[in-house]
Amino acid sequence: MNSPVKPINVFEYKALAQQDLSKMAWDYYASGAGDEVSLRENRAAFERWKLRPRMLVDVSQRDLSTQILGQFQQLPILIAPTAFQCLAHPEGEIATAKAAAKLGVGMVLSTMATKSIEEVADVSQQGNRWFQLYVHRDRGLTRALVERAYAKGYTAICLTVDAPLLGRREKDTRNQFALPAEMELANIATLKDLELPHKYGESGLFAYFAEQLDPGLTWKDVEWLQSLSPLPLAIKGILRDDDAVRAVEHGAKAVIVSNHGGRQLDGAIASIDALSEVVGAVGDKVEVLMDGGIRRGIDILKALALGAKAVLVGRPILWGLTVAGEMGVGHVLEILRDELDLAMALSGCAKLSDIDSSLVRYISCC
Ligand code: FNR
Ligand code: LAC
Repeated sequence: MNSPVKPINVFEYKALAQQDLSKMAWDYYASGAGDEVSLRENRAAFERWKLRPRMLVDVSQRDLSTQILGQFQQLPILIAPTAFQCLAHPEGEIATAKAAAKLGVGMVLSTMATKSIEEVADVSQQGNRWFQLYVHRDRGLTRALVERAYAKGYTAICLTVDAPLLGRREKDTRNQFALPAEMELANIATLKDLELPHKYGESGLFAYFAEQLDPGLTWKDVEWLQSLSPLPLAIKGILRDDDAVRAVEHGAKAVIVSNHGGRQLDGAIASIDALSEVVGAVGDKVEVLMDGGIRRGIDILKALALGAKAVLVGRPILWGLTVAGEMGVGHVLEILRDELDLAMALSGCAKLSDIDSSLVRYISCC
């Protein structure tokens, strides 16, 4: 860490990360699609949900542990799948996985990782380790990814369904986003010689999605996917009750309410605002998780109050990774843990099951 002063919240990590990263990498991590309305809404919406703390509850002992898809976790947090972590730090996904294992939180490894399924598995033996799948037009390649994840002990497949095409992040277009020559798509290069193209006047990632991913994916393919391994399926990118019901009908064991950090359909509802609807539809049948805009312990408290079993954290992990590798990711997780712990104490919750919907109220205007 170059800074003499240790950050005390994740926003301070953000500021330091921006100083350290190249413009191309910073813009890629930070951007949302279009006018970035959904990106901003993910934060703004949290502020509209107000807390209703309970008083005079014994909170001298607090327990933040939980189970997600049957696996014990110290915290109700998973690390969201984010691509290209070696842009942040040479150890990339390896450093993230080590920090996650130490703090007892789950990690979701992206298809678009810069360290492979096998390398990451070798440094994170226990707990929730999920593999996030992008279904490629080449079904053989897709099948091989699932089989490798299963062989290496990943505990779930997380199918991302909100990206038949990549959202248009205008800064990436302007920067003609591409990976540095020494970096590769670690999971895919070993299967096929696919690369992120350097496309004139376009983001290389946008071009990759358009060329390689299957925009014809439907619920039928979810059945095919289930046949590839016995791993439980989490479906990521759900924003409506009817889609959540379909996910359950097609065998999903978890649903992740997410607008992809505001990076796909600009104008899409904030994840936290879509959560109640999904919990109301399927919360008694499967585990509902959410991501998008989690920056504080109180955000996690609000998400859990609205029925999420756990949250996923995206960009703050990348900021910690940029600033101090494994140590930075670990510290970001500690900050969120300590903030959640304090928020629980101050709102009269000694354990996660004490957090219920009476703790929040939606107040849309001042
Ligand atoms: C992502 N996200 C993402 N999602 C996914 O399913 N596969 C992926 O490869 C990626 N890659 C990715 C890269 C970067 C740089 C970001 C910021 C995000 C979306 C991610 O999993 C998650 O939904 C959001 O990041 C959550 O929002 P916050 O926590 O970043 O606000
Ligand atoms: C992104 C993709 C890779 O959001 O999910 O950049």
